[in-house]
Amino acid sequence: ESKMGNKNEKTLAIVKPDAVSKLGTIINCLKENDIQVCKAKMVQLTRKDAAIFYEEHQSKPFYNPLLDYMTSGPVVAMEIMGSDAVKQWRKLLGPTDSNAAREQEPTSLRAMFGTDNTKNAAHGSDSATSAKREIEFFFPSSGKSKLAGTAKYENC
Ligand code: PPS
Repeated sequence: ESKMGNKNEKTLAIVKPDAVSKLGTIINCLKENDIQVCKAKMVQLTRKDAAIFYEEHQSKPFYNPLLDYMTSGPVVAMEIMGSDAVKQWRKLLGPTDSNAAREQEPTSLRAMFGTDNTKNAAHGSDSATSAKREIEFFFPSSGKSKLAGTAKYENC
């Protein structure tokens, strides 16, 4: 990564069930921050899907509630791209816990649209390596997704 940052970095955003109604505002926020939406897909995750996606958290106490929540309704997954997109998107999200976000980053998306640690509006990959895996999960390069996508949008 250069001093100028990675201009065309990609990351995965997931708008979680409770925040799907705020999708328009969230996309406007991306646009205002020069982040492009490359691909988007609305998906109803099965428990198996969510278990694979959140594999790294399987030993955590919040694992089951997290799977319950992420399968409680459709989510919108987006491959997004921009300058230092991994970091920039997580900055726009704010802290994991929406209550902490309201104290520390009151204008962040989690502060505005989240409820707590679990219902926290949206997800962002935590590194470029995670982003690669997570983008492949929702948008496989083979083009043959096993996910029950109900809609698909491609722009770049
Ligand atoms: S950790 O503990 O540092 O690995 O947590 P983090 O990477 O911030 O994200 C964990 C994901 O699990 C969801 N979740 C919780 N995190 C922390 N504490 C509690 N109690 C909790 N409950 C649920 C949290 O929303 C993160 O989801 P994603 O989709 O990755 O943002």
